[in-house]
Parts: sequence; C-alpha cells; structure tokens
Amino acid sequence: MDITAAEDLEGTRRQLLLFAEDLQTIVARERERREEAELAYRELSSSYLGMVRTLAEVCEAKDTYTRSHLDRTYQYALMLTRRIAPELAERAEIGFGYLLHDIGKVGIPEAILNKPGPLTDEEWQVMRTHPVIGVTLVKPLRLLGDAVGIIRSHHERWDGKGYPEGLAGEDIYLPARIFMIADCFDAMTTDRPYRKALPLHVALEEIDRHAGTQFDPDCARAWVALCDEVSSDGASSFQLPR
Ligand SMILES: [Fe+2]
Repeated sequence: MDITAAEDLEGTRRQLLLFAEDLQTIVARERERREEAELAYRELSSSYLGMVRTLAEVCEAKDTYTRSHLDRTYQYALMLTRRIAPELAERAEIGFGYLLHDIGKVGIPEAILNKPGPLTDEEWQVMRTHPVIGVTLVKPLRLLGDAVGIIRSHHERWDGKGYPEGLAGEDIYLPARIFMIADCFDAMTTDRPYRKALPLHVALEEIDRHAGTQFDPDCARAWVALCDEVSSDGASSFQLPR
C-alpha cells in the first residue's frame, strides 16, 4: 500500500470513529429524553387518576349509605377484569369508569338517594336517570374515553331488562357487564338501612343463580370461581367480605 492510500484509510477510520461517537451521543440524549417523557407521562396519569378519584369521592359523599362502596367495587371490578380480559384491565380509562360509575347521582335529589325505605315507582324513575346524567356530565372530558360506556351501561342486564337502554347480552359493553357483578356483590355483602349484609356464600349463590338473566353467565361464573380461590387462599392479601 502506498503512502497516499494509507493516509486515506486512516482519514476514513478517524471519520468513522467521530461518526460513531456522534451516534452514541445522539442515542444517549434520545434515551434521556424518552425517560423524561415516560416520567412526565406517569406523573400525569397519576395526577389524572387522583383527580378522577377525588371527583368520584365528592359525588359519593352525597350518598351516606354507600361510603366505601367506591373503593370496594373498584377493586372487585378490576379483579374480575384481570381474570376475564387482562388487556382491558391495563387501560386507565376502564378504572376511571369503575370509579365514576355513579357520578350521575349528583343530579338525583338527596331525599331519593338517602331515603331509608324502598323507593316508590316515581322515585325509581328519577333514580334510573343517573347513568344518562353521568354520561352528560363526563362527555366533554375526552381523556375518559371508554369510561363513558361503563357509566352509561352499568345497570344494563344480560336479559335486556336493565336500564337506561334495555341492551342485552354482548351488546352491553363488557366492562359494564363486569361492573354490574361487582356492584351487586358489594350491595349484597354490606349492611343497608333496610337489611343486614348477606354472608359471602349466600351472595355467591345469588350471583350464580342470576347468571344468564341479570348477569353475563361467563363473568358471573368467573367471579364465583375467583372468590372461591381468594377465600380458600389464606395468604391472599385481598379481603373479601365474610
Ligand atoms: Fe349506578
């Protein structure tokens, strides 16, 4: 190799080294930027979840008989979602929907909401407007996405006899079908002004009995199986009602 060719080769080698160093710097900066963006996204999601939770708690505070209902139904519904459709459980808006399911109750008079005895037909008519009121309230919040489907349909029944639209079967949004079970299970296993809480095994028998009428049969069976597993697992950190 003559001297000129050796110099050219050395020059190319140096250029390549410089190029590799530049590339490394760019990759490191890009990684830093991505980590900052991920951190900002996590912080934003966490603040948004906090805001949604506060909003839901403010609404729940109006209903004196259902305090703590929110936390329990949220936990139950997420547990069942993880079992039935794990990919849905990963989506933040599904959790938002579970938390905000009854937000429409802010539009229901307290005399009806906190009535100690059974409601009259007229009062039930008013009470049944809460899913639609809820949808109207949250519709401008585009970040809530599919949470709206849970707020709208959490009182629809598998047999089509629910409200507000009388949807049936798989026409009902899956997380709303899941939530219907969590909501009823919690109602059955907590004290109400007009009756005591049912024991766990009786509540589960009721869920099973209404599989295919009130509840999505697959979701109902999955919930019963899940509760059986949790209650027989002494090490489980999750507390089911007795
Ligand atoms: Fe509701």
